[in-house]
Amino acid sequence: MVEPLVEIDASRPFEGAPDALTAQLEAGKVIVFHGRPFALGEFEKRFVERPFSDGKSKNVSIRGDAAELRGAAGTPEELAALQAMLVRYKGFATELIARYFPAYAGVASLAGTSYRPFDVDVRKLSWRRDDTRLHVDAFPSNPIGGKRILRVFTNINATGQPRIWRVGEPFEAMASRFLPKVPAYSGLKASLLSALGITKARRSEYDHIMLHLHDLLKSDERYQQDAPQATVAFEPGTVWVTFSDLVLHAAMGGRYMLEQTAYLPHQKQADVAKSPQAILGRLVGHAVV
Ligand SMILES: [Fe+2]
Repeated sequence: MVEPLVEIDASRPFEGAPDALTAQLEAGKVIVFHGRPFALGEFEKRFVERPFSDGKSKNVSIRGDAAELRGAAGTPEELAALQAMLVRYKGFATELIARYFPAYAGVASLAGTSYRPFDVDVRKLSWRRDDTRLHVDAFPSNPIGGKRILRVFTNINATGQPRIWRVGEPFEAMASRFLPKVPAYSGLKASLLSALGITKARRSEYDHIMLHLHDLLKSDERYQQDAPQATVAFEPGTVWVTFSDLVLHAAMGGRYMLEQTAYLPHQKQADVAKSPQAILGRLVGHAVV
């Protein structure tokens, strides 16, 4: 049985050992924080009443040190407020990581912050882009090599609508099942893709395997239906944290969410052996990063 959630009452002081939640996170759990919402100011409430998006991109985001706002639409005042809200959410996520996952403070580097105003995309997307199918995150053009993908989500929906996920079986069980179908890695091909600018860096064997696992999972209808899984709901006001490269997840519904991505060198996690890099290395019999 898949029991993915560890639920924390964050309105009171945390009484566990400092690294207790880090161990759960690294073991593939989704840590859910209740009673510690990301509060919106009066002016910001409009951002959960209608989507301030330019309609071209799925999400609105800030990138880089300058927190450049992308994908948004609104008056100059609204755009400035939306950008400021995302910058504040980045700070909120940083503080949450430092408080509950102290091993990662100063080690995890915070990357993009996004505002996701739209309902889960139920258009008939290609299966590869369809995030209602169980998958692990892997980026085709942006190899991440030895890094982990840590994500801090919060549901800011103002009408009571939960965010619904399906969460799948443990990573190692999934990888054991699908690894025989992953084609052999070619370092030459990886170099070519990088030289041609198709990837931003050279794909490692780890990136290669993760991309194939992402695709094999999503394209396998029977696996999507029959594999061990649980459906979970994240109510408005809750914050949840997980390694999206380790936890099989599918977004089934909900709109108005904030998301912060952080990258963590896998060697810096508390138990390196629990990283997908290490698990895949053991399964294929040699280091993959
Ligand atoms: Fe994902």
